[in-house]
Amino acid sequence: MKIFSGIQPTGQIHIGNYLGALKQWVELQEKNECIFCIVDLHAIASPYDPKKLQDLILEKAIAYMAAGVDPAKSIVFVQSEVKEHTELAWLLNTVTPVGDLSRMTQYKEKAKKFEKNLNAGLLNYPVLMAADILLYKTEMVPVGEDQLQHVELTRTIAKKFNLRFGETFKIPEAHLPKIGAKIMSLQKPEKKMSKSDSPESFIGLFDEPEIIREKISRAVTDAGKSIKYNPKLKPGISNLLAIYSVFSGLQIKEVEKKFHGKGYADLKKQLAALLVLKLETFRRKRKELLQREVYVKEILKQGAKRAEVIAQSTMQDVKKKMGLI
Ligand code: AMP
Ligand code: TRP
Repeated sequence: MKIFSGIQPTGQIHIGNYLGALKQWVELQEKNECIFCIVDLHAIASPYDPKKLQDLILEKAIAYMAAGVDPAKSIVFVQSEVKEHTELAWLLNTVTPVGDLSRMTQYKEKAKKFEKNLNAGLLNYPVLMAADILLYKTEMVPVGEDQLQHVELTRTIAKKFNLRFGETFKIPEAHLPKIGAKIMSLQKPEKKMSKSDSPESFIGLFDEPEIIREKISRAVTDAGKSIKYNPKLKPGISNLLAIYSVFSGLQIKEVEKKFHGKGYADLKKQLAALLVLKLETFRRKRKELLQREVYVKEILKQGAKRAEVIAQSTMQDVKKKMGLI
């Protein structure tokens, strides 16, 4: 199956990104044709520092590989290095209903946040994402729950295009993990864990052991004492249980049983120990890769070349269908 996904380079990769996206990518690359992108053109729609962007991109390439993305199995590249993404995005704009764009949850949130200086890039963001996906005739898009709506819109856009110009794109499907599709903030467990929030609200994929212990011990919990999974009534504890479940491989029920009769402090202590252990390999691999910058850059260069070949072939087809050549 053809698979495409991406993560924005700004901010620090956290366990939400890992569980929602990266962990699935690593599993899927074994038996599928995978393309994993660092979506810098998406990141620039929100305020950012141009001087830091290149470092952040390289850091994300290292993060992908440290988490287990294997460049021998998957194509890894930077979005802006393949011009066809922006080219296709424009063409897809012409079949995308503005009403659909303005109904996107992520857009509405950003519109509120950047009320005074809202740029058109934020509205058109999902069209670029549709272009990313459709350029590679993608069939499956492994993402976290927050991106489901964007993948749905991609399907709408692909269908509209096919109807208007003839069968061109495959209709892709989102692929969400059973648990971990929406990891919540450690500080505000009713909100998703987000790169743009303060560091104590997330566990970075490469956080050092003492930082992990501290962040987990300060995680907001709920009233009461029982360790029960109930996201509505006990969002804090449920989030910790979900994280424990995916990192331990135990079902939520089994984790509940394990902590039956124990207190919140026990759960936190054991969760911190589990995370310290499970993230150890990532930290080690990242440190190794940090010494091999030239190699990582070469991977990105080769990845862009391979992606470009596919992207160019799709663009030929699209332009022909649209009467542009
Ligand atoms: P972003 O950080 O917005 O570039 O997101 C990259 C990927 O991580 C996307 O597939 C998101 O759906 C996923 N993701 C982001 N935050 C979370 C979260 N809190 N829980 C699960 N998945 C997430
Ligand atoms: N919009 C996604 C996010 O914010 C990132 C993204 C851009 C993406 N293009 C994509 C994800 C294509 C999957 C497929 O997380």
